[in-house]
Amino acid sequence: MTYQALCVETVSKHPVLSDYEFLPLEKGQVRLKMLYAPINPADFNMMDAHYVIQPDCPFILGNEGVGVVDAVADDVDSSWLGKRVFFPFQMRHQWVGFWANYVSLPVQGCIIVPDFMDDQQAAMISINPLTAWVILADCMDLNAGDWIIQNAANSALGRWFIYIANQLGIHTVNIVRNDAMIEPLKLLGADSVIVYDDHFSKQVPQKGSFKLALNGVGGHSAKELSKCLDYGGILMTYGAMSKEAVCIGNVALIYKCIIATGFNRSLWAESVSIDHVKTIYKRLFEMLQHSSFLIPVKQVFCLDDYTDALGMAQQASLGGKVLFRLS
Ligand SMILES: NC(=O)c1ccc[n+]([C@@H]2O[C@H](COP(=O)([O-])OP(=O)(O)OC[C@H]3O[C@@H](n4cnc5c(N)ncnc54)[C@H](OP(=O)(O)O)[C@@H]3O)[C@@H](O)[C@H]2O)c1
Repeated sequence: MTYQALCVETVSKHPVLSDYEFLPLEKGQVRLKMLYAPINPADFNMMDAHYVIQPDCPFILGNEGVGVVDAVADDVDSSWLGKRVFFPFQMRHQWVGFWANYVSLPVQGCIIVPDFMDDQQAAMISINPLTAWVILADCMDLNAGDWIIQNAANSALGRWFIYIANQLGIHTVNIVRNDAMIEPLKLLGADSVIVYDDHFSKQVPQKGSFKLALNGVGGHSAKELSKCLDYGGILMTYGAMSKEAVCIGNVALIYKCIIATGFNRSLWAESVSIDHVKTIYKRLFEMLQHSSFLIPVKQVFCLDDYTDALGMAQQASLGGKVLFRLS
């Protein structure tokens, strides 16, 4: 059996693994009755055993999701019961697979979903918004009026970059592969949306003035981004959707001294306090309450239909997330 088949097999059998599901809670834990969980690119990387932050096998897949607390350990306050929560502390050494009907989690890392947010949006809140916030507001020295550029702009993370940048007064130029994405991203607040071609940097009027280029694709796309940077600008790689190594323009390196670096939320989360992450979510929820924003959902599947769900989630130009409905 291949590694991928093993993982999928584990997932498909999970609903009947009642012994596993109802192992007694450890100190400080709550049990969630899961509601929804998305299929993310990182889940496929894990199925292919390509992910750097790969838990030991066998493990339950699913990097994020939302559920309702339906049991608490003896030492956990019973006021958690019935609360919808998510868990933005997914890490290799603290792995929790969310494609399951029930999961047990340390209550310390759980965050209560605000009432205004629906279940499906809450299922997608643990990873992408945190990543976008940390890169734009924590790691970078950006000010209102600055320009940034990104590829894979219609991805869920790309949309979060646009939304948060917009809220902070930062201008965005956005590279997409499909012209059907131009209007939706402009409605979201994108200043400019450009359809990819091999020389897209030539289409960018602000070429040479960007402080930050966000790279989720790699390969030649990264090279075109690097050409757009200002002197000392930063090429920040967070993803590799093309599975090609990052290329960088020679001029950008030699004459503009650009800096190529990267970011991973999971490694970042290991180095910060739980309170810091909770403060970020407080700020994000204030923004969302004031100015709403939704990640499009393409289709919802039950776990039994995982073959169709995984097939759909790998299609190009999907325009929205594929979710599992759980429990
Ligand atoms: N480093 C971190 O901490 C971190 C955190 C979160 C996410 N990520 C990464 O961010 C990326 C996006 O995640 P997501 O959840 O936002 O994904 P998503 O919503 O599923 O979107 C996937 C995106 O990738 C694009 N894409 C797929 N194959 C491509 C290819 N061969 N060349 C160019 N573009 C391609 C898609 O474009 P089309 O719509 O045109 O098909 C779409 O824009 C992933 O690589 C993920 O692993 C990293």
